[in-house]
Amino acid sequence: MPQVNITIDGKKIKAEAFKTVYEVATANGIYIPALCHHPALPPEGACRVCLVEIERQRALQPACTFPVTEGLVIHTNSPKVREARKFALELIISDHPLDCMTCEATGDCRLQDLAYEYGVKGNEYTGGVQHTYPIDDPNPFIQVDRNKCILCRRCVRACNYINGVEAIGIVYRGFKARIAFGMDSTMQDSPCEFCGSCVEVCPTAALWPKMSLGKGRAWQLKKIETICSYCGVGCRLNLHVRDNEIVKVTGADGPANHGFTCVKGRFGYDYVNHPERLTRPLVRRYLLEGGSKAATDHRGGGDGKNGDGLLATGNAAADFVETDWDTALNLVAHKFAEIKRNYGGDAFAALCSARCTNEENFLMAKLTRQLMATHNIDHCARL
Ligand code: SF4
Ligand code: SF4
Ligand code: SF4
Ligand code: FES
Repeated sequence: MPQVNITIDGKKIKAEAFKTVYEVATANGIYIPALCHHPALPPEGACRVCLVEIERQRALQPACTFPVTEGLVIHTNSPKVREARKFALELIISDHPLDCMTCEATGDCRLQDLAYEYGVKGNEYTGGVQHTYPIDDPNPFIQVDRNKCILCRRCVRACNYINGVEAIGIVYRGFKARIAFGMDSTMQDSPCEFCGSCVEVCPTAALWPKMSLGKGRAWQLKKIETICSYCGVGCRLNLHVRDNEIVKVTGADGPANHGFTCVKGRFGYDYVNHPERLTRPLVRRYLLEGGSKAATDHRGGGDGKNGDGLLATGNAAADFVETDWDTALNLVAHKFAEIKRNYGGDAFAALCSARCTNEENFLMAKLTRQLMATHNIDHCARL
């Protein structure tokens, strides 16, 4: 790509032609505010908060869509620019509930940050009518509050370009414009897959995870980076933790996911603190205490069925006892050795999983081939 010479705020910069003014400025440490722009999404030019002054251009130009060409001289913070940005913010906020005191996004809201930066109080244009959309959607994951939507279209682009689902769009024009799902139904009834990418990029509380409602503000939560435990893709996640409880999950910028996740990674975390979660191994009582399965299966004939011939699952928990990991693992190791000794390695077979890491699958192959001396190993992805 050819290089061009431009000047931003008096600083001479060599830049790749046709990068946007916003990209070149931020790459060179020059701050330009942005609201509808998101680095993972194609530019939209919807909010006008990134306006800059470019010499020999008739009007101010949005930095997020304007491409750099040879000789441009750009001013990012002139009084004219600041006044235009403030006006754009005043117009956006004139139709906003200003609910910052109780809003979930307070402290983590791009609109709030910019209103603070530009001194916009929300009382500049009080004559107009404000929207009062009903809040919510029957889906279990994402709260939809169109009153806090600023029509930046980040969600629309995330759904289209990141997830390829196209579940969100903007319907109507002018004051009636609003986000809509599917054929203007609910999010639940649209093709939405609940990946939460739209929530990830929404700069306000218009889209918010339901499981996180009332669980704490950004500064009350500890952010811990980790890798998703669900599958071998290895998405990087941020766990937002309060009082040792996960209250929200967001995507972190990892090589496999670049800040986005699927529905399981983002919303499937309630098992961690679930009271019924197994945290210690359970072993059949007869394996620990001796005797045979038949003898301890007091309700049936040792075939796992009760007197009526039904599986004895109703009281099955009574046949399990909690133990420690060493005891449980030793028991498994002895049983494997016993099988190999009595029946040969081919009596053993292992089934691996795409949900494990490569390292775990490698260890399973070693266990099967080297210790059990059999090639009876397969993978769930082939089934
Ligand atoms: S979305 Fe942002 S600006 Fe709007 S009420 Fe919530 S914190 Fe305030
Ligand atoms: S959750 Fe995912 S699929 Fe559903 S609307 Fe948002 S981005 Fe699209
Ligand atoms: S829901 Fe959020 S991301 Fe989507 S248009 Fe509204 S403010 Fe932007
Ligand atoms: S950030 Fe450039 S127009 Fe919104």
